[in-house]
Amino acid sequence: MAQRMRLDKLLAMLGEGTRTQVRDLVRAGRVRVDGAVARDAGMQVNAEESQVFVDSRALHYKPVRHVMMNKPQGVLTAARDKRQKTVMDLLPPLYPAMGCMPAGRLDKDTEGLLVITSDGQLAHRIISPRHDVGKVYLARVDGPLAEEDVRAFAKGLSISDADGEFEARPARLEILNVSPQESEARVRVMEGKYHQVKRMFASRGRQVVYLKRLQIGALSLDPALLPGQWREMTDEEIALLEQDAPQQD
Ligand code: URA
Repeated sequence: MAQRMRLDKLLAMLGEGTRTQVRDLVRAGRVRVDGAVARDAGMQVNAEESQVFVDSRALHYKPVRHVMMNKPQGVLTAARDKRQKTVMDLLPPLYPAMGCMPAGRLDKDTEGLLVITSDGQLAHRIISPRHDVGKVYLARVDGPLAEEDVRAFAKGLSISDADGEFEARPARLEILNVSPQESEARVRVMEGKYHQVKRMFASRGRQVVYLKRLQIGALSLDPALLPGQWREMTDEEIALLEQDAPQQD
């Protein structure tokens, strides 16, 4: 679909500055559209087809944006919040302006892989349990874990706590380290209920002291991204999320 909009809006969306700053760019004769110097910041352009340059730099508009973020602890997974910092505050204004939203939710104290996208269908695919997109977490808990826990996770836990009741779908628990004080495990769940992983461990008498999401479906967190860092996803990574669930427990 042709994306017609004002030139100053497009320039601002693409991160060239505020509306005032981009109008100054146009006034200074630094913006060219389809080979001609733009004289009117309000001129209509086709965001996808017009060839827009600032000085000699070509600008590229993509109708859909997908971001991979290593969500840091202490930041809310929400589009916006009056008081607290959200994951969207870590991105330039282009992303909220293009309708990007977090696909799913990590708790404030959870870190790791978060996809932020303007593609509602892709977000739905990630979130909806109907699509069987498994999520893999690294969890540290406050005591020993044992084979009994692995079996209980695999069978499907009955959760009943202050937040309500549900039957958790079978999940794969892989114990990585055990000590009387603290254990580390990888857990793969097929759904994303409120505090899902913490509540599953709590039902086994263990409190999660650290939680990081490593994987969504076949997509892994880029290990080069430090907490708080993000980048646009590659086409290959997007395709990994679009494909059907590759493996079952
Ligand atoms: N499960 C949790 O308990 N918290 C998260 O942030 C994600 C999964």
